Amino acid sequence: MNTVHRTPTVTVTGTATRDLDADLLIVPAFEEDDFADEPELDAASGGELGRARGRGEFKGKAYELFVTSAVGGWKARRLAIVGAGPRREMTSDRLRRIATIGGLAARQRRLTTVAIVLRPAPGVSVDTAVQVAAEGAIVANFDGASYKTEQPPIFLESAQLQVKGGGAFDAALERGRVMGECTNLSRELSNEPGNTLTPRVFADRGAAIARAAGLHVDLLDEGKIAELKMGMLLGVGRGSHEPPRMLVLRHEPKNAVKGVVLGLVGKGITFDTGGISIKPAENMDKMKDDMSGGAAVIGAMAAIARLNAPVTVVAVIPMTENMPGGRAIKPGDILTSAEGKTVEVMNTDAEGRLVLGDGLWYARQLGATHLVDIATLTGACVVALGKSTSGLFGAPTGWVAEVLSASERAGDRSWPMPVFDDYKEQLKSEIADFTNTGGRPGGAITAALFLKEFTGNLPWVHLDIAGTAWAEEPKPYQPKGATGVGVRTLAELALAASSWVNLK
Ligand code: BES
Ligand code: MN
Ligand code: ZN
Repeated sequence: MNTVHRTPTVTVTGTATRDLDADLLIVPAFEEDDFADEPELDAASGGELGRARGRGEFKGKAYELFVTSAVGGWKARRLAIVGAGPRREMTSDRLRRIATIGGLAARQRRLTTVAIVLRPAPGVSVDTAVQVAAEGAIVANFDGASYKTEQPPIFLESAQLQVKGGGAFDAALERGRVMGECTNLSRELSNEPGNTLTPRVFADRGAAIARAAGLHVDLLDEGKIAELKMGMLLGVGRGSHEPPRMLVLRHEPKNAVKGVVLGLVGKGITFDTGGISIKPAENMDKMKDDMSGGAAVIGAMAAIARLNAPVTVVAVIPMTENMPGGRAIKPGDILTSAEGKTVEVMNTDAEGRLVLGDGLWYARQLGATHLVDIATLTGACVVALGKSTSGLFGAPTGWVAEVLSASERAGDRSWPMPVFDDYKEQLKSEIADFTNTGGRPGGAITAALFLKEFTGNLPWVHLDIAGTAWAEEPKPYQPKGATGVGVRTLAELALAASSWVNLK
């Protein structure tokens, strides 16, 4: 198996642009740019940039790319001009993507050292620019072709971030490094197929990542899960020869804000066949990424520990396959959750909410006061919001707003969806407390309402990443494959704990 990612050396430098020593010099260019801060740039391109703009080959529209040679005594070998759109619309999110585009452009050309010019923009502070450019360069250094035996991938060795005038940006740089690296750790897990990443392997790899980051690790096996009476997790696991696992991680820093415990719960279905309510063959291979919520929680916890976020965090990741074996649960079966509530399983393919229900309950047993779960939960969410935006559900609105704002800082697009009680009647059962499916209308919402039953009315947010965990159509800033969505959102949320500590 090939290495799928490597973290380049990332540094901040005040070196003049013409003296930046790199294989590829990456310069964002705005629409209608006068390059007042980079007067020699056009000359350094041998006039290519001006000519390309003159004939409309390069307009500076967001994510356009123009690569040419660097001449005229500049130290860099080649120039990558990356479109940044109108200067007044510049955001940290856009800068992160520009850094990724530049990094990917370098790797495609077998260039391994880059320098990125962080040009001033009204909407982005220099600290934020350093952080997100580091993140962007590092996530560019991921290659999912881990089982190809020809041509190992080219990785970036180093990325210099140029801030004119220099300065001390150690904290922002470290945040960016850790966020980028932990995003890639999560993508590496999501990328693994179902046969190499069984629940036991997932648990062991998650535990190893967590221990290396300094987290406290508890790994519950099938016996312990049964002792805790997690009937929903056990129920889903019954159809498989592979036993389930529950990975529990804790971050307990000395500097923790008092009175709050953040509880993170991630869906860890290592492969979802649908079970007895089996899925069609087409696209079933994609269901290897059905543990991406769990992988996001593992990546986020590693970042939280390494950045020593000032809050106690417990993480719970239920892990199992959803298979149609001879002992599998069947439509109409009743499961009793660890909380004691009973569920009539109408469709065994609605398994994520089952394992998460026991996971949310367990996070509460461990003292969580504020909950966030993350899951590739419903096809209905993909219908509602498409492939670029995660569904964000929850209550109260103050907690929803905190998670939304963390997702904005992270560059993980998400958007609020309703959880009105009115939808609850769709989960009515004749025989049990409720069913696990609410029919097609509002399918992402009824799934969220099912989860809400297990939150004990604590502040809770549910992120449905069914559409966003895996990129199908490659974008300039996001190659096809695992995205690592959610890692930075959850880490940003924990880092900002002192701002939401009083939120009930
Ligand atoms: N893992 C799937 C959801 C999913 C679908 C993720 C498409 C990514 C892309 C989930 O377990 C599932 O099968 N959900 C069902 C629920 C239904 C049976 C109520 C769905 O969305 O069809
Ligand atoms: Mn399913
Ligand atoms: Zn699933």
